[in-house]
Amino acid sequence: MSIPAESLPIGVASERAPNGRGWSSTSAFVLAAAGSAVGLGNVWKFPYIAGEYGGGAFVLVYLVCVVVIGLPILMAEIALGRRGGHSPIHAFGRLSAQEGHSKHWRMIGWMGLVGTLLLLSFYSVVAGWSLSYLWYALSGQLFAIAADAVSPAEHMSNLFDGLLADPIELILGHSLIMALTIAVVGKGVRGGLERAVRGMVPGLLILLVGLVGYAAVATDQFAAAATFLFQPDFSALTGHAVLVALGHAFFSLSVGMTAMMAYGSYLDQKASVAGASVAIAGVDTVVALLAGLAIFPIVFAHGLAPGSGPGLLFVTLPIAFSEVSGGAIVAALFFLFLAMAALTSTISVLEPITEYLEQRFHRSRAMATGMAGTMIWALGLGSVFSFNLTKEVQWFGLNFFDLLDFVTSHVLLPLGGLLIALYAGRILSKEALTSELNMGDGYLFKTWRILLRYVCPPSVGIILIYNLL
Ligand code: TRP
Repeated sequence: MSIPAESLPIGVASERAPNGRGWSSTSAFVLAAAGSAVGLGNVWKFPYIAGEYGGGAFVLVYLVCVVVIGLPILMAEIALGRRGGHSPIHAFGRLSAQEGHSKHWRMIGWMGLVGTLLLLSFYSVVAGWSLSYLWYALSGQLFAIAADAVSPAEHMSNLFDGLLADPIELILGHSLIMALTIAVVGKGVRGGLERAVRGMVPGLLILLVGLVGYAAVATDQFAAAATFLFQPDFSALTGHAVLVALGHAFFSLSVGMTAMMAYGSYLDQKASVAGASVAIAGVDTVVALLAGLAIFPIVFAHGLAPGSGPGLLFVTLPIAFSEVSGGAIVAALFFLFLAMAALTSTISVLEPITEYLEQRFHRSRAMATGMAGTMIWALGLGSVFSFNLTKEVQWFGLNFFDLLDFVTSHVLLPLGGLLIALYAGRILSKEALTSELNMGDGYLFKTWRILLRYVCPPSVGIILIYNLL
């Protein structure tokens, strides 16, 4: 007979850790969670939205959003995950049952599950682009401009358009990313996730520092890029930009979809949730800023515009690379860095789904990962085709890819964040929170709780309403 998860005792996560199911140490957890946070959001999206919304002032608003809204919710997610000790859906059920609240709070877990499924299906397709570009750089296609007899700019946009128009190539990249993700997650928390991030996270940080160094040495635009990113010009700031900054803080910190809860459920009871959260948010933010400092000097040195949108990495940057010495090697290293950053995120998105299937259907990890991964891979084909075969098929004026992006990033992510803030700030008892955070009842704890109760819900509520309208 199986025992309903709700009736299992609290604290199982800490008992699980020693027998090899949880993270082997707090630093392993921080590395994995930082790997989750650092992804396409930092390297691809942050620089292009910072470019679009005018630089410095946007960056400043983003930093405020990370500290005041993202960080408190990140702490709440990790604390809820650890206290629940099981997959997010089970965790909400158990935590609520313990304190006599409605079991319907499990809905937050269900939303997270659906959200992560949808998110990974299209995230993996974009991550696949980085593999295609890594291949273009290694094989020389990226700079084979003479053969085309057109300008570098035209060549680069042809190359990008050509990639999007070719379903086979997109499927190849998407499949490779999903296969690698399944292979890692299938091996479990220690044998898979932890081993992967121990190699990849330091590796990608070293690559990034090298790329920033290159941008500083190979161009004379480093100061200009720093000014662009750090000197706020508030006249360029719009209300819309503020909402974009807040939404991106969620996406970049991986909060709002219970992914961090799943990672937290494997965390040892002794670890400091606040300390780990600050480290995770710190690494994530530093990486986003360094990515800007690696990209913009090169872009500026070639007189190109920072506000070129999603094509910044795949069109604008390669144009710049094609004109600098050693550009081919640097481009290859850059896309390798991008692929690694994406992979340490995709594994964190597959983990909560796997954890749920494992616990709900008592399946082996390999089986649970395979099932979830295959489903997501198939769903991803919808996004692949929306760039070519089914381009014209639209819902509310959006194709399949844009629709999934809208539903996850603009609806489910803020809605999940809002509900998590309400749950941790207002539903769960203060005693449960203090005992879980083990940081006492001092002013740090009080500030955190005030942010969670009074600052996060209204501000996240506003973006949600704005996005829906
Ligand atoms: N944070 C990742 C990035 O910046 C994306 C990501 C990973 C994510 N896991 C998540 C986003 C969970 C939301 C929820 O690319």
